[in-house]
Parts: sequence; C-alpha cells; structure tokens
Amino acid sequence: MKVAVIGLGYVGLPLALAIKKKVGCEVVGFDPNESKVKKITQGICPIEDQQAEEDLKIVSIKVSSSDEIIEGSDIYFVCVPTPVLDDYTPNLQPLINAIETIAKFLQRGQIVVVESTINPGVCDELIIPKLQELTGLKVLRDFNVAHCPERINPGDPKWNVYNIPRNVGATNMETTRFIADFYRKFIDAEINEMPDLKTVEATKIIENTFRDINIAFVNEIAKSFDILGIDIIAVIKGASNKPFAFLPHYPGCGVGGHCIPVDPYYLIDRAMKSGFEHKFLKLAREINNSMPNYTISHLVNALNEFSKPVSGTQIALLGLSYKPNVKDLRESPALKIKALLEKMKAKLVVFDPYFPELSTAESLEEALQDTFAIVLATAHDSFGILTAEYLKKFDIKVVIDGRNYLNKEEIKSVGIYYKGIGR
Ligand SMILES: NC(=O)c1ccc[n+]([C@@H]2O[C@H](COP(=O)([O-])OP(=O)(O)OC[C@H]3O[C@@H](n4cnc5c(N)ncnc54)[C@H](O)[C@@H]3O)[C@@H](O)[C@H]2O)c1
Repeated sequence: MKVAVIGLGYVGLPLALAIKKKVGCEVVGFDPNESKVKKITQGICPIEDQQAEEDLKIVSIKVSSSDEIIEGSDIYFVCVPTPVLDDYTPNLQPLINAIETIAKFLQRGQIVVVESTINPGVCDELIIPKLQELTGLKVLRDFNVAHCPERINPGDPKWNVYNIPRNVGATNMETTRFIADFYRKFIDAEINEMPDLKTVEATKIIENTFRDINIAFVNEIAKSFDILGIDIIAVIKGASNKPFAFLPHYPGCGVGGHCIPVDPYYLIDRAMKSGFEHKFLKLAREINNSMPNYTISHLVNALNEFSKPVSGTQIALLGLSYKPNVKDLRESPALKIKALLEKMKAKLVVFDPYFPELSTAESLEEALQDTFAIVLATAHDSFGILTAEYLKKFDIKVVIDGRNYLNKEEIKSVGIYYKGIGR
C-alpha cells in the first residue's frame, strides 16, 4: 500500500510519520513549501511538535515539493490549511488546489481522506463534484472520499497523533470501516465510525465553536466584573468546586491559533448561505476579537493615572506566541496588541524568548530596562520570574496582565499599578 500526505504542517507531518512508524507502508508527502521539504529531508522537524521531532529521528518518509510523488497512492490524506479571508469568510483555495493536485493522479479504487477542518457540506458540495469534474471518474463507483478531522494540539505533552480519539465518516459505510480500520493501525484510542460526511464535518466545527463561545462568555463576564470590581479568577475558582455542570474557562487578551478564531466562521458562512444566521457564534467572535483593544484600554487607563500618554512612553510587550511555551504566532492576539501600540506611537520594546528574531530586546532584563509599563500577552513559563520584587528592581510602574498570570496581590502590595482581564 502507498499513502500520500498532502500538506506537511502541524497536522500532515505527524500523521505521515505515525503511519510510516506504525503501519510501515510506503508513505510520501507533498508540500509546495520547498524549505519545509528540505528540512524534513535533512531530518530537521520544521514544526514545534515533540512527538514529530522524535519520530523524524527514527523513521524517514519520502517528501517532495513536486506533486508527481503522490502518483499511484491508494489513499491521499489532505492536510492543507483552511484559513479565512480578511472579511472572515472561508478561504478554501488551498483545499481546492490540493484537490486539483490529487485529481491529476486519482485512479479507480483510490480514496481521498480529508483531515483539514471544513464546514458541513464541503465534501459533498465542493470536493466530490470537483474530483468528478476534473477526472471524469464517478464517486462510489470509481473512488471514495472520507473525512477524519484532526484534533492535534501543538505543544501538548500528553495528547498527540497516537492517542487522540478520532471520528471518521465517508461516502459509504464500507469506506468508513476501511478508513477507520486504517486509523486503528496507528492510533491507540477510539476511532468512532460516523453515519456520513456532513455529520463528521459538523463534529469538528462544534468542538471548536464550543470553546470559542465559552471563552467569549468569560471574556464578557471579565468586562462586567472589571466595572463591578469583582476578581473573575477568584469567582471561577469558587464556581469550579461544583462537581458537575460547570466547566472553567479563563478570560484573556485574545484568542489565537489556527483553529478557534477561524473555524466558527466556516459554520457561520455555510449556515448563512442556507438562510440561518448564527447570531450567538458571531457575537462570540466579536467579543473575542475585541480583547486586544480591551487590553490596550486598560493600559491607557493605567497611564492616565500617571498623567502619561501611550505615545513616547516605553512599554514592553512580553510574549508574541498565541499560547504559552510554543513558537507559534498564528492568529496571535499579541500581534494585534503590538500593531495597536505601534499605531499609538508607544516606545515599544518586544520580547518573546521563542521569537528572538522578532524581539527588539535580547533578554527579559533588557526589555525591562527603562520600561514604564509592561503588557503580558503570553504566559510563557519563563515569565514566572516577574515577581513583585523583580518588577520593583526595574522600577516598573504599570503591569497589564493579559493572561492573569502574575501575582496580583503581591504586585499591588509593592505599589505597582496592576490590572488583569476581569481582575
Ligand atoms: N494546527 C492545529 O493545531 C490543527 C489542529 C486540528 C486541525 N487543524 C486543521 O488542519 C489543517 C492543516 O492545519 P496545519 O496546522 O497543519 O497547517 P500548517 O499551515 O501547519 O500546514 C499546512 C501545510 O500545507 C501546505 N500546503 C498549502 N497548500 C497546499 C497544497 N495545495 N498542496 C499541498 N500542500 C499545501 C503548506 O505549505 C503547509 O506546509 C487546517 O484545516 C487546520 O484547521 C489544525
């Protein structure tokens, strides 16, 4: 058996390596990004994924930036990006490109498995018609399509491609069973067989929408509690000892990553095309998108207390990654905060230990030198050093804690202005 993985990023590369390691069949990878392909060929992992790094040391896969490499595959796994355009509508172009590539080689009896996140209807309305149109082949009679949405959480030390349960749906139950059995060969977790493509597409979207809505809920509560003078972190701690029906989520300076701030738009857009307006989902996106601005409003209020403008004041933005301890900038709210501070002409110092190339300071110490206010946008472990005593040493006057990560009481007790999000 030969399998091809189309798109060798956070989803495709760990998958290709896992199949090679556990199934042992021929695995090839295609990605137009030449530098990525070159790195993989040299055994260098181009993504932040500990499991993939380890696997790359023990298995090798053939990868290329020329698409002929996928010719003659029995299964094509599609792992290309599904971003949104500037107007937040789905950008299916990378997926269309990948389908066009597969169509050049698709033969009778072969199966296309989509792992990319897509809204309900993409397989039936876009992928299958396009494959039929480009190849002259007929779905079910000549080829089949399955969907197995990836749930990988980059940087997670516990959950990886080998142990996250999966859902599979396909054009018919025979294909669903065949593809589910294939996944069972390398995944040591439940592989759930689902009734059809639309159902499995919807599953992934509601998982991520659920998270987006819950975060929007606490972000809204945080804004309210800021006015009411209630510490949201203490409230969440209290609510969390209810042993059922409460799920803690935490407010912050914004939602980032490739999935949560993107996937809800796919459902919003598709439902709208059928005449249903997802008001709740749209509002959640709006609230979460407002958080970088909200964080900056705290900074403006704080500086006001010192009769200082943002313009010309030295402000250190700490953290650029969208989540702690990973080198990943995708949709990071820190970038929006940075752009806002630049627009307001702050004397900006940027430091993220994971992005020395984007930092203007070489160290945290250097970032704090002569700085008046800090804005913490990512709770990297290494920022745990920012105790009251440490901040005092650098004569920091204002702390805007966009991740509610630092010790509020301690920092306030030494006379530093502290403001978190809802805290
Ligand atoms: N990163 C995550 O945490 C995560 C988790 C679950 C699901 N997903 C979903 O999986 C999909 C892929 O995400 P990712 O994080 O791996 O993206 P990524 O950007 O890390 O990787 C995608 C790769 O696809 C390549 N590519 C683009 N167009 C191509 C084409 N036409 N043919 C072949 N390769 C092409 C890119 O060069 C890139 O290397 C998306 O739909 C995403 O929503 C991502």
